[in-house]
Amino acid sequence: MKIQFVDIQRQYRNYKGELLTAIERVLENGNFIMGSEVQQFEKEFAVYNGCKYAIGVDSGTSALELSVLAIGIKESDEVITVPNSFVSTAFSISEAGANVKFVDVDERTQLMNISLIENAITKKTKAIIPVHLCGQMVNMPPLLEIAKKYNLKIVEDACQAHGALQNGKRAGTIGDLGCFSFYPGKNLGAYGDAGAITTNDELLYNKLTLLRNYGSSKKYYHEFKGRNARLDTIQAAVLNVKLKYLEAWNKRRNELAQLYMKGLQNVGDLTLPFIEKDNFSNFHLFPVRTKKRDLLFDFLTSQDIQVVIHYPIPIHLQNAYDELKLKRGVFPVTEMLADESISLPIHPEMTEDEVDFVITKTREFFNQ
Ligand SMILES: Cc1ncc(COP(=O)(O)O)c(C=O)c1O
Repeated sequence: MKIQFVDIQRQYRNYKGELLTAIERVLENGNFIMGSEVQQFEKEFAVYNGCKYAIGVDSGTSALELSVLAIGIKESDEVITVPNSFVSTAFSISEAGANVKFVDVDERTQLMNISLIENAITKKTKAIIPVHLCGQMVNMPPLLEIAKKYNLKIVEDACQAHGALQNGKRAGTIGDLGCFSFYPGKNLGAYGDAGAITTNDELLYNKLTLLRNYGSSKKYYHEFKGRNARLDTIQAAVLNVKLKYLEAWNKRRNELAQLYMKGLQNVGDLTLPFIEKDNFSNFHLFPVRTKKRDLLFDFLTSQDIQVVIHYPIPIHLQNAYDELKLKRGVFPVTEMLADESISLPIHPEMTEDEVDFVITKTREFFNQ
């Protein structure tokens, strides 16, 4: 049995009629740039998240970059985030000319360790970017308190957290801005690059609608220097179809995650995901930890089970951040995760038999 990490083709086959109709409508209309599908998606994505506004953009990276600019981050400011993330989180800070200030993550949740933040704050600190990694949210109430105390903005990196909940609130709607990626393999994935920013702040919303469109609300009139970072109409058409299923897909991922939780309990030295109380994870990923990670990776791969390491090199140790001169040892939890974490396949199209197969093979590995 061959098990894919995500099965985009299987999902396409299941919704083919609807998807092709939606794409064809755009081809027939010819409104490829800012067609009505974009506004429709922005409206429906905001409603889904229970926030006032959503702004479609061309990737999660653009969502982060524009958000950092929109809250006024500039050269020599400092922004706090975690080294246990996809590199774009930190790049968005660097792109604005500001300095990245990392804090380590919590060992159980693998998310930003809130207790380390106050120590990292200086006079130059202007914002915090919590990353809701793997589909579970950073504990937001204490983070909001710190932000209030030090007058800091919060940009949520919700690129992996579509539909995740904490105390009934959606990821991306608690801080000043929320950033989403619709990279094809995400829980809500486009057929190419795409992203969105969510907010309840009208001023930020107005600024961002211009920022993503050359600083312009009227063609050839430019209020300030902006980008071309618009969401393509065709991608919006795909997202409009898929958004209707996101809730059901996230539920299905949770069911599959529970099967993994049961089947992999007390197996070898495996540590399973820990989900905080009052949180609904969207289980974008199902990362497990073991000291035998590399051997498990080779074994599962040899059994035709696709597994992925998120992430093999923490951001502070990437060549791209040589200038920070941060050596191994400074963020021990993140570094341990880079050495021991392995993500098992999980996606809504996966069958229970497929999950069972992964469980059986994982157990077999630890029983050898
Ligand atoms: C946590 C996180 N931040 C940012 C990004 C960047 O999103 P994109 O690939 O759409 O630019 C991703 C997705 O890869 C991500 O997982």
